[in-house]
Amino acid sequence: PSLQPPTANLHPGSLPSGSAGLAAIREELGDCRRCKLHASRSHLVFGSGNPDAGLVFVGEAPGSEEDRQGLPFVGKAGQLLTGIIEAVGFRREEVYICNVIKCRPPENRNPEGEEIASCEPFLRKQLAAIRPKVICALGAFPAQTLLQTREKISSLRGRFHLYQGIPLMPTYHPAYLLRNPQDKRLVWEDIQQIIQRFGFRGPKSARRGR
Ligand code: URA
Repeated sequence: PSLQPPTANLHPGSLPSGSAGLAAIREELGDCRRCKLHASRSHLVFGSGNPDAGLVFVGEAPGSEEDRQGLPFVGKAGQLLTGIIEAVGFRREEVYICNVIKCRPPENRNPEGEEIASCEPFLRKQLAAIRPKVICALGAFPAQTLLQTREKISSLRGRFHLYQGIPLMPTYHPAYLLRNPQDKRLVWEDIQQIIQRFGFRGPKSARRGR
């Protein structure tokens, strides 16, 4: 009999769905040392929210606050993301939020090829377990990684693409919006397209994006 634990080497096609699937993926990650980012992390940031979410947000990588808490999008950019989620009538716990890279790159530098190659399969498995109706990719990095393109975020955003048959809307990253608040309007439009197409509960009010 195989000595491998039953959750090792999960393939996206053979995954249990929802919370059992996510638990198995988290277990497979374990105390991950597949790339050098493990050496400087405080916490691996797996993801948080509803394992059966219809809507999943995918960011780049944890920042310092996320590394400290072990939760995605809990720093300044996270507060803005939470505001966007709530502005369209969701609570954070109703959607799922994760990143391409699970451990913080030092000084928030861009993830390197080897780090992406080690970590990306786990994101793909998470998406396979959740099977959301729609994915929102936050910024160039998750959009280009999932869609396997080099196209710029400014041309990718604003329309649906397909990831494994799942509609994917790229939009600007909330950290970019903190530096470029004039583009919040564009993100609001992208999120509205998601809400309208998938018939999620509408905005609580007609108020525009903050
Ligand atoms: N930026 C990201 O891309 N992800 C986080 O979790 C936090 C900030």
